[in-house]
Amino acid sequence: MNTVTVSASKTYDIHIGCGVLNTLGAQAQLLGQARKVCIVSESTVYPIYGGPAVKNLENAGFEVVSFVFPSGEESKNGKTFLQLLNFLAENKLTRSDLIVALGGGVVGDLAGFAAASFLRGIRFIQVPTTLLAAVDSSVGGKTAIDLPAGKNLAGAFYQPSLVLCDTDTLNSLPTDTFRDGCAEVIKYGVLYDPQLFFHLEEKGLDFDREAVITRCVELKRDVVMEDEFDTGARMKLNLGHTIGHGVEAKSRFEISHGKAVATGMAIITRAAVKNGLCSAAVCGRLLRVLAQFGLPTKTEFSADDLFTYTLSDKKRSGGTVKLIVPRAIGDCAIVPTPVDALKSWIQAGL
Ligand code: NAD
Ligand code: GLY
Repeated sequence: MNTVTVSASKTYDIHIGCGVLNTLGAQAQLLGQARKVCIVSESTVYPIYGGPAVKNLENAGFEVVSFVFPSGEESKNGKTFLQLLNFLAENKLTRSDLIVALGGGVVGDLAGFAAASFLRGIRFIQVPTTLLAAVDSSVGGKTAIDLPAGKNLAGAFYQPSLVLCDTDTLNSLPTDTFRDGCAEVIKYGVLYDPQLFFHLEEKGLDFDREAVITRCVELKRDVVMEDEFDTGARMKLNLGHTIGHGVEAKSRFEISHGKAVATGMAIITRAAVKNGLCSAAVCGRLLRVLAQFGLPTKTEFSADDLFTYTLSDKKRSGGTVKLIVPRAIGDCAIVPTPVDALKSWIQAGL
């Protein structure tokens, strides 16, 4: 097992390894004071991991209640959020009690926002069960729900008190969902770590899960400690996301987030080559590794379409979009780009 410690507005540990879920009760006890725990989970994950999690917490002396909602992004909304807050109130959780978010990014975001809001903030533990949640959403305190006007439009920065990442839970993930998480893993390599990227090139989907997740979490920890509230360096984590958002939105979310991010990274890197910021060799390595992981590097959508949908991304500020542009493996630049110039970047990268 590896442990990474985050010191932001809250200091907390992230434990990563096989069987870490079996330590949930003992780890929750170490946090102190709590008597009750509410497990928040969803209809795919809870039947697999809910039973053992409840038993483990009960054996450690906690009273456990579970709130389980239908799996999928469609549930990450105001209705489920209010149902959860009411459930916490009806079950009389107090400020010293705990929420456990057992699931992927949907559960983590929703449960985290409920933890931030209920009684003006109660502690929560993230137990990520997807690769994406392990390397990204469970770390760093971004919590959110979707509004009819768009994804993640209501939320809070609210750090968990503990993260338990049991790599065994990834064994039940559909391959396609695992590949989606790989897009985020590849992103960390391109942004910060040539050695990580090389390991992915060498091993493909058989990469060392504990080591790679730990490395990604360390990299995210460093970013969050530098810029917890997303006003500077944290922006780099948007590599592939700005144009990827256009791909996702244009497909009406039929194309998954991971595949859209992979396409976004490919487009921006090809454009970087055309603009003389990145070598063709670096771009070739990225395209090869994406293909090796079964991720797309091309889209059928036109530059016009992508431009329109990319502009609805909430990351835009005024008349400028901050593009994250690879210069080398492990080195990316933030390039403020006037909205007018964005279409030619997209066109160059198609
Ligand atoms: P998800 O939570 O919907 O999980 C994806 C699918 O995998 C679902 O069908 C789920 O039921 C299933 N699943 C989860 N764990 C499983 C397991 N162990 N075995 C079998 N099936 C399992 O989606 P996700 O990709 O984990 O997360 C996407 C969400 O995360 C989005 O809402 C996105 O906005 C959010 N996100 C948040 C942050 C952040 O910093 N807070 C960062 C990135 C993404
Ligand atoms: N997932 C992007 C961030 O945490 O900032």
